Amino acid sequence: MADNGVASMPSSPPPCPEGLNNGLLVGGGPYVSYGIAGVHSHSALAKKVPNDKNSLLVGAVELGLGAAGSGPPGSGAGAGGGGKPAITLSNLPRRPSVDIQFTNLAYSVSEGRKRGYKTLLKTVSGAFWSGELTAIMGPSGAGKSTLMNSLAGYRTSALSGNILVNGRPRNLRRFRKMSCYIMQDDQLLPHLTVREYMIVSANLKLSDHIGAAAKRRIVDELLETLGLCECQDTRTGSLSGGQRKRLSIALELVNNPPVMFLDEPTSGLDSSSCFQCLSLLKSLSQGGRTIVCTIHQPSARLFEMFDQLYALAEGQCIYQGSVHGVVPFLASMGLECPSYHNPADYVMEVACGEHGEHVPKLVTAVANGKCNNLYQTGKSALQQPGNGASLSASTCDCGLSVSSMRSGPGAPDSCQSCPSCAHSATTLLDSSDESLSGGGFPTSTASQFCILLKRTFLSIMRDQTLTQFRLISHLTVGLLLGAIYYGIGNEASKVMNNAGCIFFTVLFVMFTAMMPTILTFPMEMSVFVREHLNYWYSLKSFYLAKTVADLPFQLAFSVVYVCIVYWMTAQPMEASRFFMVLAMCLLVSLVAQSLGLLIGAGMSVESGVFLGPVTSVPVLLFSGFFVNFNTIPPYLQWLSYLSYVRYGFEGAMVSVYGLDRQKLHCSEPYCHYKSPKKFLMDMDMADANFWLDAAALFAFFLILRSLTYFILRLKLRSTR
Ligand SMILES: Nc1ncnc2c1ncn2[C@@H]1O[C@H](COP(=O)(O)OP(=O)(O)O)[C@@H](O)[C@H]1O
Ligand SMILES: [Mg+2]
Repeated sequence: MADNGVASMPSSPPPCPEGLNNGLLVGGGPYVSYGIAGVHSHSALAKKVPNDKNSLLVGAVELGLGAAGSGPPGSGAGAGGGGKPAITLSNLPRRPSVDIQFTNLAYSVSEGRKRGYKTLLKTVSGAFWSGELTAIMGPSGAGKSTLMNSLAGYRTSALSGNILVNGRPRNLRRFRKMSCYIMQDDQLLPHLTVREYMIVSANLKLSDHIGAAAKRRIVDELLETLGLCECQDTRTGSLSGGQRKRLSIALELVNNPPVMFLDEPTSGLDSSSCFQCLSLLKSLSQGGRTIVCTIHQPSARLFEMFDQLYALAEGQCIYQGSVHGVVPFLASMGLECPSYHNPADYVMEVACGEHGEHVPKLVTAVANGKCNNLYQTGKSALQQPGNGASLSASTCDCGLSVSSMRSGPGAPDSCQSCPSCAHSATTLLDSSDESLSGGGFPTSTASQFCILLKRTFLSIMRDQTLTQFRLISHLTVGLLLGAIYYGIGNEASKVMNNAGCIFFTVLFVMFTAMMPTILTFPMEMSVFVREHLNYWYSLKSFYLAKTVADLPFQLAFSVVYVCIVYWMTAQPMEASRFFMVLAMCLLVSLVAQSLGLLIGAGMSVESGVFLGPVTSVPVLLFSGFFVNFNTIPPYLQWLSYLSYVRYGFEGAMVSVYGLDRQKLHCSEPYCHYKSPKKFLMDMDMADANFWLDAAALFAFFLILRSLTYFILRLKLRSTR
């Protein structure tokens, strides 16, 4: 894993390696120049200096990433680079550019039956354009995340209004596939290294047809571009805040999504990391992507880096337009921003009402199109709803317009007019056809499963709680138990003690399987939710991989533990009995683990840590060790059928004392339980059948796993 493919990167990448290509999204010559000249006569976009290579040029120095200039010779005039050395992102698959418009978007949540609904977004309208970095600003609680969630498609229920993508109504599935959402508190699996994570992402997010070498090139390039080379072998748990953020961005950049939503990408970062992060976003947007991020309290320098501002207050829009237009707009409304005052701070103050109740006035002004006058004139034509044709023409070059997104009759002509189109158009259509139709995910379920299995396995291997501690506890407790009950297995006078030993064996296996799962699964789940919603893989693959990856570990621990205890306590030395006890322990641990998954999926760690042991108490009570079945009042007897430990304990007892075992050795003058059969009878286990117990445990396993699967599905649905 630690190979450093960076060194072997071609200094001047081939134009279209293995069906990929650089990108349309980026400062590619014909596309961008067409895009700008054709439609976006916008000052910020004018910085997108066309260059003679089809490549994304990122001002390396400006990014502060210190990357050695590996760009093609003569490409120094990269976006914003101003003659500085630049690095290229030339291997990303090409994607169409995407504009997003939304009108009368409203969102409300129920606050309980009595209190009715709370409106979080009050009919907001606006547009985010490709090639621009847009900031959504507003006080805390203004509805920034809500707006972002709605646009990204993470919230769909109770959402009203129109969302247009390239002039067409948004197809949620398709849109989600071409957009990515980087949340504020991005959860990463802590035990993978940066490079491993990137490779997993590339394997999952890029189609199976793309070769490993091409994927490695993409990963190398992104690691270098995002300044993650020096920490590529660091585990994500040890990364700094800025590095984590950049990794989250890099992970999503792998398949070159044309739309990126970021929720407070700079929160918690120091000013230089903030600057690096925003510079990166700026460069990416200059490559043609639509980048929208919410931001809190940007400094004047950071504020300047944005192209567009969308200001929210109390769920309403109080300004939308260019960043430079906000001060004149506020001035026109009688709100003079003092000189030497950070405009961003001033906007926030106004939104918070520090300068008086101006929000309704501003909302009305925005609704009446007052800030549109200050808005870029080039955009105004596009802002008219139903102007899809011009939109699509604007983004159509070199096959940019995927047929499904193309809405204007002029589009095909403009495509064909580009000499280098034929090949790239095919590439694009191929890639989009593939990712937009069929099963939905970029890779097949089987390969998702394999990739996730490998990743989960690696994670478990490196997880101290899940492996080392578990192994050590199995060893030490096994030895302790062996020492306490040393050699009593065949002793008729100690059968009750031996039953205690067997019971404890089952109990221990149960707890060690359940508790770590309750502790670790909620975190894994938040990673899953993020990756699933960003269209990495399906729930099915995740869940199957999770189930299968832990099996070998569980088996190994059970074997270690049962071997020690079985041998030290001198249970009957027959292979069949040994394997039967082992099977019972394994089954109980699998059921307990499934219960842990169910609890972990359904609730938080805190509740789970309480509920796990608490629900185990009745399970143990009805296990048949503390109270015999016949002693339980009839109206409670059915509960013992729900106690999975009962089946495990019974199965293990039958394995040890059943199967016509010979009379036990008695070292005292009288032993009541010389006959194992009698002992089983007194334990109400005379009629017990090992295979029935095993089947019951297996049924428990299946039911709990399926239940967890459905809970996860419900949870996924309810997050929308
Ligand atoms: N499920 C919910 N129930 C009630 N209120 C909510 C819910 N989700 C969000 N809110 C409220 O909606 C407002 C906007 O939230 P949010 O979009 O997260 O704000 P921010 O602009 O800080 O990102 C906040 O006042 C928040 O308390
Ligand atoms: Mg928020």
